Amino acid sequence: MERKMRKVVFAGSFDPFTRGHEALVEEALRLFDRVVIAIGENVQKRGFLSVEARQRLIEELYAQDERVEVVIYQGLTGDFALQIGASALLRGVRNTVDFEYEKTMAAANRRLYPQLTTLLLFTPAEVADISSSTVRELVAFGREVTEFLPQGVDLKKYI
Ligand code: PNS
Repeated sequence: MERKMRKVVFAGSFDPFTRGHEALVEEALRLFDRVVIAIGENVQKRGFLSVEARQRLIEELYAQDERVEVVIYQGLTGDFALQIGASALLRGVRNTVDFEYEKTMAAANRRLYPQLTTLLLFTPAEVADISSSTVRELVAFGREVTEFLPQGVDLKKYI
């Protein structure tokens, strides 16, 4: 019998997608057949990049890799993950602050969706200092952010 396709949802704001996110996607692709990068839309909050621009940036990055899909969703991540037949939720952990937040979120998700596994991956040390909020702050002060972004990404195209 053919093995069931393993799909993981990597949900986040991705405002913007960074080298840290990229490292996690790469690692997740070793474990799963499909990685769905799911951009959570907060209708109350206009981001730095529009959700459509965030999606475009990530789609262009993975244009040659059919194992990666990029979607925008609203509402609870667990509901979305079950709708698309995913078996797990992926999140990255850089430090203890992330860990505490992720632990609480994973516990809530386990209570709500016992059939979904939350998988926490440690962000590689070389990129563990990178965050989307740092990128946004540096851009606001007119600084160059290329080293925080996946190779070849020109942020100006999406602003
Ligand atoms: O990049 P972020 O800001 O860490 O992403 C957070 C996101 C969008 C993944 C998170 O806020 C989320 O999952 N929101 C949807 C609501 C939800 O499912 N919460 C968890 C159960 S209470």
